[in-house]
Amino acid sequence: VQNEKKFPEGFLWGGATAANQMEGGFHEGNKGISIADVLPGGKERLHVLNQPGFNFEIDKEKYYPNHEGIDFYHRYKEDIALFAEMGFKAFRMSIAWTRIFPNGDESAPNEEGLAFYDRVFDELHKYGIEPVVTISHYEMPVNLVKKYGGWRNRKVITFFERYVNAIFKRYKNKVKYWMTFNEINSGLIMPIMGLGFSIQKEEDRYQPTFQAFHHQFVASSMAVKACHEIIPDSKIGCMILFAPVYAYDCNPENVIYALQEESFFNYFCADVQVRGEYPTFINRYFKEHKIELEIHDGDLELIREHTVDYIGFSYYMSRTEKKEKTEQEKAHGNIIPGVKNPFLKASDWGWEIDPIGLRISLNKLYGRYRVPLFVVENGLGAYDQVEEDGSIHDDYRIDYLREHIKAMREAIADGVDLIGYTSWGCIDLVSASTGEFSKRYGFIYVDKHDDGSGTLERRKKKSFFWYKEVIVTNGEKL
Ligand code: BG6
Repeated sequence: VQNEKKFPEGFLWGGATAANQMEGGFHEGNKGISIADVLPGGKERLHVLNQPGFNFEIDKEKYYPNHEGIDFYHRYKEDIALFAEMGFKAFRMSIAWTRIFPNGDESAPNEEGLAFYDRVFDELHKYGIEPVVTISHYEMPVNLVKKYGGWRNRKVITFFERYVNAIFKRYKNKVKYWMTFNEINSGLIMPIMGLGFSIQKEEDRYQPTFQAFHHQFVASSMAVKACHEIIPDSKIGCMILFAPVYAYDCNPENVIYALQEESFFNYFCADVQVRGEYPTFINRYFKEHKIELEIHDGDLELIREHTVDYIGFSYYMSRTEKKEKTEQEKAHGNIIPGVKNPFLKASDWGWEIDPIGLRISLNKLYGRYRVPLFVVENGLGAYDQVEEDGSIHDDYRIDYLREHIKAMREAIADGVDLIGYTSWGCIDLVSASTGEFSKRYGFIYVDKHDDGSGTLERRKKKSFFWYKEVIVTNGEKL
């Protein structure tokens, strides 16, 4: 059968966000404090967390951009109307765990939090937009971090189970697409965001990190099981950060190194969540780092029996690797620093731009797993300039997205089963890694700045009109 080089009918075009980066209203509706709420603004925000003695408290002297976000909590109707105007078929968002269980360990959910998302989902359905919901996107309740040590503690599985049961039951008629943990593999490099704990000394990293992963895998399988039981017509996916790894050259030393890095970072979590078992290559790593997982009876069966229906992944960049690298060769801007790729240009934040890398990623993932794929994040963080007449000419963003969409079309022609594309930050929001507003991804500009000033007014950028055309022509007109 010849694969057609076009997007399938019903392709889920849309945009992606996360609660903590856009909602604001951090003290409203009985919401509890999450990890994102104790992250100050600024490029150093993630390093702050790893400083010895970080106390996960809000410091009155500091500015916390996530507290107000872009005020989606109050402006969701206006924002969803704009998404509908672009013709969105899907909107990826997350539920803030701390709206539903403010401290994470309560026995009953918070009605005000549940009611908020009812209103958001109803608004989306009013326009025929399908919600795609991430259950946990970098915003664990701080109480679970302080009292239990985050995911390293097995008790957190029970709290998570309570949380997912509450939301599956409540939204069973409103949400059909779910994802468990955002960029689950990012815990390998940033344990604080996904796993809920900081590591102060490198040598203390291994055992707690992988024990925490094991707990998340069990929790993820439990969520898949519950989702299928409570919402039989649902689809639930994993969500991984995927940056295909290239060997710097054909030196076999570099090729094997790139392969090992790829297996470890890109495939370890997906292998467990999609294939239902720990990959064999990880055993050697466990042995070399003296990691012994505490696995309870029934854990591995649960993982084997309840695998995900699709793979959601973020794609921003590729990664080039070399076994021995000098400081000068390193590509510091990338999320996971390899070496600079001489064939690629980088964004203003040093993220290397590689549309063909998306085609490569889609082929690698589909070849390995044979389950539907969903690109749930991709986009260009850039500085935007508002002209005197109020217009914003973000041609650089259009170019970036166009090339990535073309790459997806090629992958579809290669035979990949791709079900949707939600570009990241369809409306400007707080950057996760740097806490900036000035790193903008949106089709919709939000008047909000790094010093906290701004009216929060929304404006359509040039890319808004371009994306609308892309959607209405199902990706034909780029
Ligand atoms: C992904 C995250 O890593 O990249 C998002 O899932 C994040 O939460 C996005 O916002 C872009 O990263 P940044 O740091 O530019 O916001």
